Amino acid sequence: MQYRTFGKHGLDCSEIGFGAWAIGGAWGAQADTDSLAALHRALDLGCNFIDTAAGYGDGRSERLIAQVLRERAEAGRDDPVFVATKTPPTAGSWPPSPYDKAEERYPESYLRANIAERLECLGTDKIDLLQLHTWTRAWNRNPTPFKVLRALQREGHIGLIGVSTPEHDQNSVIDLIRGGWVDSVQLIYNLFEQEPAAELLDVAREHGVGVIVRVAFDEGSLTGKFTVLTRFPEDDFRSQYFAGDRLSRTVVRADRIRHDLDGSGYTMPQAALKFVLAHPAVSTVIPGIRNVAQAEANCAVSDLPAMPDKLLHQLHRHNWRRSFWYGGK
Ligand SMILES: NC(=O)c1ccc[n+]([C@@H]2O[C@H](COP(=O)([O-])OP(=O)(O)OC[C@H]3O[C@@H](n4cnc5c(N)ncnc54)[C@H](OP(=O)(O)O)[C@@H]3O)[C@@H](O)[C@H]2O)c1
Repeated sequence: MQYRTFGKHGLDCSEIGFGAWAIGGAWGAQADTDSLAALHRALDLGCNFIDTAAGYGDGRSERLIAQVLRERAEAGRDDPVFVATKTPPTAGSWPPSPYDKAEERYPESYLRANIAERLECLGTDKIDLLQLHTWTRAWNRNPTPFKVLRALQREGHIGLIGVSTPEHDQNSVIDLIRGGWVDSVQLIYNLFEQEPAAELLDVAREHGVGVIVRVAFDEGSLTGKFTVLTRFPEDDFRSQYFAGDRLSRTVVRADRIRHDLDGSGYTMPQAALKFVLAHPAVSTVIPGIRNVAQAEANCAVSDLPAMPDKLLHQLHRHNWRRSFWYGGK
């Protein structure tokens, strides 16, 4: 496993982090025994960064992580592990509406109560990194929730402060970076969603802000394992994400990437992670991991040779503006 600095924050984080959404819920059946084994295996392989959230099974993901860290401490294997979690906004539209008020979606009393819950679920007295789970540009001019988080930081409940981008608008956090409001950002950057390469990644690097890349596999499609016949259980959120003709359109695009990778020596999952890691602003990429085999396959990617520039440039053509309608379907 290779390590990178987390912005200017004096932490060496593993290039491959552990995305802990699926072990919490919303991805169909998931046995806790598989989740616990996957976490242990990833940490054994040098992973030292875990991303979770309140919303991943209403604390289930956080509690599993706490259990694993406790088991390791009891066994004397307590190398430092950095755990990032998230507080969601109060009930309402997701992503937040442009007309929502920051003080109503992240009020101080709510933030304090929710963060107390995170501490409880994670079994700790200090959260390494607390991220607001989503955001809107509407709040950039007066980002009051971060003033509350800085107070909680001064009080010793939080280490670093971060934000996770809304799904449709990666660039919405650029002003927060420039304004010095956040220590890290979590964003979508993958072979389909390459927009962060335009500005966001460079701005983060210039300001020493840690960059956590999520959804490197586009929820699985960039592993190349889906076909037009793939079906997701109803309790797997991907039955919605890939609803209608979305799966077949995505499979066609993923096949084009497979074609570009012929002879490269990379499998599709390896290329998906190496593409992300090729950007120097990236601190860690956090593939979702739900079993030991995925922990092993994903952690191993860090030590593979870096992606050659020629292939990297070739893969730029797969940038896919999915919300752009003028080109038709
Ligand atoms: N708004 C937010 O802040 C937000 C939103 C989404 C995600 N996240 C974070 O980012 C992390 C990563 O995103 P994600 O989990 O949604 O999606 P992802 O990383 O794009 O896809 C993860 C899924 O791909 C499959 N997979 C993993 N490794 C594989 C491999 N080597 N080969 C084949 N399949 C593999 C697994 O599902 P199957 O085995 O079931 O196919 C896994 O759950 C999350 O876990 C979470 O921590 C944050």
